[in-house]
Amino acid sequence: MDDLREALIRCGQEHVVRRLDKLDDPSRDRLLGQLQAIDFRLLDSLRALIARAPDKAAAPSLDPPELFPLHRNLEQDRQAKEATELGASLLSKGQVGFVLVAGGQASRLGYDGPKGAFPTGPVTERTLFGYHAHRLRACQAKYGKPTPWYIMTSPANDGTTRTFFEQNEFFGLAPDDVHFFQQEMLPALDEEGQILFSAPDSLFLAPNGHGGVLSGLRRSGMLDDMARRGVEQLSYFQVDNPLVRPADPLFLGLHVGAGADMSSKVVSKRNPDEKVGVLGRIDGRMGCIEYSDLPESLREAKGEDGQLSFRAGNIAVHVLRREFAERVSSGSLELPWHVAKKTMKVVDEDGESVERTGFKFETFVFDALAESPVSVTLEVDRSQEFSPIKNRVGEDSPETSRADLSKLFSDWVTAAGLVLPDPGEGGEVRVEVDPLFAETEEEFLARGRPEPQVSEHGHLYA
Ligand code: UD1
Repeated sequence: MDDLREALIRCGQEHVVRRLDKLDDPSRDRLLGQLQAIDFRLLDSLRALIARAPDKAAAPSLDPPELFPLHRNLEQDRQAKEATELGASLLSKGQVGFVLVAGGQASRLGYDGPKGAFPTGPVTERTLFGYHAHRLRACQAKYGKPTPWYIMTSPANDGTTRTFFEQNEFFGLAPDDVHFFQQEMLPALDEEGQILFSAPDSLFLAPNGHGGVLSGLRRSGMLDDMARRGVEQLSYFQVDNPLVRPADPLFLGLHVGAGADMSSKVVSKRNPDEKVGVLGRIDGRMGCIEYSDLPESLREAKGEDGQLSFRAGNIAVHVLRREFAERVSSGSLELPWHVAKKTMKVVDEDGESVERTGFKFETFVFDALAESPVSVTLEVDRSQEFSPIKNRVGEDSPETSRADLSKLFSDWVTAAGLVLPDPGEGGEVRVEVDPLFAETEEEFLARGRPEPQVSEHGHLYA
């Protein structure tokens, strides 16, 4: 207790000591539990960040990345074929582990539960977790190896996420192959660098960003588990995109074939204003610039071909070499901190609920790209691989995502020479294909002329 008091005072947090003195025993114990988890050295550096936080970062020097393009020439077609074989051989040897980040708070969606539990299947209402799980089962069926899955949660949704998996019997996956680990939380600070409170006996804690996945994997022993299982590559993806293909042999093969440490998938931005990050070389090193940090002149810039110069939209799908993840999480390399200034509802020293300007701190996984001298950037077709659920309404919402899925699957059905019923004016025929049945148009066509299960909700191929 004395050490803690001393550390708090040294760190400019006398107000916390005063609070401790005022609390009754159970409340003090609760607060002490949270304070003991604080890394005071880190707290010091976060305070320093606020002190010198510029309102806007200086304009970066940005170059578009070299893409492995969606529309390929003959030579690139040949490379793609070779890479696909290489990727398939990794999957057949069980050398790939799957890492899902699902610690976010789904605040924009306004969903009261883990985002992965959100229903998204146009016919079945299959959830996001259900989609991801079926894709991993499809991978097992194709390559005959387990698909160890490492899911990052946060303290706010860890319990509900685990319960959801149990209630759904792990969607048919072996529970031993599904691991959950929690990301760390960090205290939010006010403009003077003082720790904020969400209750008289509770710190205002916020998740440390998806970059926390790297230290989280190490701390929780997941990297060791991967090493034991012979996993060499980590396939990383976000919870919000039902079309994500975590076991894509082409992407894995291109990455391994190039000897890359970390690689990325991108889609061509819809328009300059689409709110995705942009991948590129920032001052010479690979990285991602968030939409809000991309200066308008670069956002709008077009090349001679009329296309946006900076159109490599980040879909947050990466492959990382396991040893690279070990290195980046070992403490020898630190991901940069991103500081977010927000208005927060906090509880002041008198126990009153008030609004304050505060700062949250996050690291982003894509900043690790800067440490990967070789990195593949694979351009993929948005309609086949990216339709995230982010907002309650409008763009990237449940409605747009369901419609995108239904449209994609309808195209496969039509390509197979099958006819969908006429929806009538303004109507729609919802179509869904279970990833266990087919993950790509090619796989769907290989099924011949399959019969759908027809219900009032639409046509399901499963
Ligand atoms: C993110 C990317 C953006 C990209 C877009 C593609 C950032 C800063 N930006 O934006 O470049 O174009 O995805 O969809 O990431 N998460 C955690 N813990 C956290 C924070 C987030 O696990 O502390 C997880 C979320 O559960 C989610 C993912 O990370 O799966 C993305 O988080 P989110 O904050 O929604 O990112 P976007 O703003 O959508």
